[in-house]
Amino acid sequence: MDRSNKPSAIGVSPSLPQPTISFRENTVEATLPTGESVIVNLYGATVTSWKLANGDEQLFLSEKAHLDGSKPIRGGIPVVFPVFGPPPENHATSLLPQHGFARNSNWEFLGKSSSESLGKDRKDCDDSVKLDFGLSHSMLSEEFRKAWPYEFGLVYSVTLTKGALETSLQVQNKGSQNFEFKTLLHTYLNVDDISNIRIKNLQSKTYVDKTQNATSHTEASSALPITQETDRVYQALDPKVPIVISTADGKDLFSITREMMTDVVVWNPWAEKAKGMADFAPDDAYKKMICVEAGSVSTWQTLEAGDSWEGGQSIRPKA
Ligand code: BG6
Repeated sequence: MDRSNKPSAIGVSPSLPQPTISFRENTVEATLPTGESVIVNLYGATVTSWKLANGDEQLFLSEKAHLDGSKPIRGGIPVVFPVFGPPPENHATSLLPQHGFARNSNWEFLGKSSSESLGKDRKDCDDSVKLDFGLSHSMLSEEFRKAWPYEFGLVYSVTLTKGALETSLQVQNKGSQNFEFKTLLHTYLNVDDISNIRIKNLQSKTYVDKTQNATSHTEASSALPITQETDRVYQALDPKVPIVISTADGKDLFSITREMMTDVVVWNPWAEKAKGMADFAPDDAYKKMICVEAGSVSTWQTLEAGDSWEGGQSIRPKA
């Protein structure tokens, strides 16, 4: 039958382009129809790449980062839980490694959800994809299960939109005992030149300087330059006030807002420390990164049996 004159269907909208998800070995990669992409390694549920539609990488990843599960990944966004830094003595986390076990455990991919809303102009489409990852007590190595014997559940959600990357962590206490935790999204941002960045909205905030025997100070600068090894825990920030990373001449590069995470760690190892880290490469890559890490680390969060807690960050990139 000749169908050349068949009328086209009326009222049926063309199917919209969907985000694509691909799995490669131990990674999940999502790409939006508009071109933005994110890669998450199941080891640590570590986001290792976040690219804009033009291919511009937003996260720093060391050339010598271990991506095979043999070591926490040096770069991207490792998840710190349930302890930040070296665990204190005589605490429930004492037997855990620095920054806990979340970044060195194999997580499970729980699935994706996506949404599309199309404006009048197709270019206005505001697609997003959310990838969920889970970790629970029974998934830990025997060593970690013994060292931290609490029944917990973590759900880590990585949401990619055209204009932002959001990462949020839900902590559930599934046991009958209360537990204490700290958590941090240890975000390594890619920068062109460390000498040309400034960090804003920290002025007048109290910080603990880990490079100066953990002494407390008040930030004097309205636009903080990074000129040496920096390891500071800024405390009691308003999560809704973005931390803005800009160039020296005021062009905004990143803006980070938080939910329930009132602390921000600013870390750059600088030349000597970078050289001393076997998985940090090249040696001068400290000039190409800055860690601005949203977290809840200055005090312990107590999670009662059956309760849950959720916190996260939203990073808006350079335009
Ligand atoms: C930061 C800490 O969050 O992480 C630093 O404040 C630490 O003290 C840095 O050196 C890197 O830690 P790690 O364990 O990944 O080498």
